[in-house]
Amino acid sequence: MAKQKKLKLGAIIHGVGGNPAAWRHPDVPSDASVNFNYYKEQALTAEVGKFDLVFIADGLYITEKSIPHFLNRFEPITILSALGAVTSNIGLVGTLSTSYSEPFTVARQFSSLDHISGGRAGWNLVTSPLEGSAKNYSKADHPTHPERYKIADEYLEVTKGLWDSWEDDAFVRDKESGVFFDPEKLHALEHKGEFFSVEGPLNIARSKQGQPVIFQAGSSEDGKDLAGKGADAVFTGHGNIEDAKQFYADVKKKAIEHGRSPDDVLIFPGIGPIVGRTEEEAERKYQEIASLVTIENALNYLGRFFEHHDFSQYPLDAPFPDLGDLGANSFRSGTDKIKQDAKEHNLTLREVALGALTPRGNFIGTPEKIADLVQQWFEEEAADGFIIGTGVPSGLTDFVELVVPILQERGIYRTEYESDTLRGNLGLSIPENRYVKKKVTAEA
Ligand SMILES: Cc1cc2nc3c(=O)[nH]c(=O)nc-3n(C[C@H](O)[C@H](O)[C@H](O)COP(=O)(O)O)c2cc1C
Repeated sequence: MAKQKKLKLGAIIHGVGGNPAAWRHPDVPSDASVNFNYYKEQALTAEVGKFDLVFIADGLYITEKSIPHFLNRFEPITILSALGAVTSNIGLVGTLSTSYSEPFTVARQFSSLDHISGGRAGWNLVTSPLEGSAKNYSKADHPTHPERYKIADEYLEVTKGLWDSWEDDAFVRDKESGVFFDPEKLHALEHKGEFFSVEGPLNIARSKQGQPVIFQAGSSEDGKDLAGKGADAVFTGHGNIEDAKQFYADVKKKAIEHGRSPDDVLIFPGIGPIVGRTEEEAERKYQEIASLVTIENALNYLGRFFEHHDFSQYPLDAPFPDLGDLGANSFRSGTDKIKQDAKEHNLTLREVALGALTPRGNFIGTPEKIADLVQQWFEEEAADGFIIGTGVPSGLTDFVELVVPILQERGIYRTEYESDTLRGNLGLSIPENRYVKKKVTAEA
């Protein structure tokens, strides 16, 4: 009998929060974004809840209007390496941009994290939506949206190629004979492409899980195509189950078009559950956070998605302004959705800005209600798993203590880790080394 598919879970650890005022909440350490103990506690809580992974997001450009968490936070690989040393099963996934880095460096960094953690590394490949990033990386221009995805496509090919530099049994390490490695099992990549020229080989071996797990976080057509072609999982965000199902079906279809199985790419919508023992308690927790934000906070927050546009110039209670193409070269899928929703529902600027900053998502309520929704999204193919973003402090603990046991009871979520690697827990196969595969094919 086929093994029943289990729900996957990840936790985003986001320091003082994705909300400009969350740091003021009495339960949030006001230095949480650079507080190792805070990250450690969150990661250990997620591990108690048998989560597949923790996720550290990142960006490469700030202004004085950026939210507090963006102003002063850890670089993902660095904090994940430290977390690797204090956790044992949970996956360690971090964002790194293909528009502002080199594949040789990034392949080494994730490979090192993969070795340090015993096969638990994952890379959230992003193309960087923020135009200002170019100014921090000595570039004249931010590449356009389609160009960023072309770069990302080649980048991923190169990185995966570098990760196969050594066959799994290449390092003989025979002290007696003095043979450290078998030169037959070492391969240079010799890549010469449109954007990258990389000879290789990489100076680190494959890990226990073969290669780090690739996540992708763009939801545009280009983003979905890249995910279908080469990612193991996708982070995405949807306000309702219908949109999420459509996205799920689209990405699975893309995987098939690229000759892969739909199970090779897992879909993780991000949700911000607010759990209360009663509906009233959940509502109170939501209001605690929502009441901390000002309309200025909300306008600044919205502006970042639209190339740091200044929304304070428009009347707050008039219909959302016509922005033309603004946003299409940054967070394209997100800004398209904001414009479309504003038009369809006749929203004012105030409504759009507050809705973006403190969305009153579906996942608010009692543990049973949240478990029901999680189960529905999972069973109706809107999600293979979720990334839990804690909208309120203690949100992760609430989810782990109150919702996880219900999901376990219903048999849709693990009670023990299946594996000590991220691939193993996600049910993803170890990618065969391309050179070994070639040899085996030639011999057959
Ligand atoms: C759940 C989720 C997490 C994301 N995390 C990051 C991140 O950490 N850093 C980043 O630069 N972009 C992040 N993004 C943005 C995407 O990488 C992408 O740049 C943006 O959505 C625009 O691309 P698209 O038009 O293909 O969606 C995230 C998006 C989603 C939906």
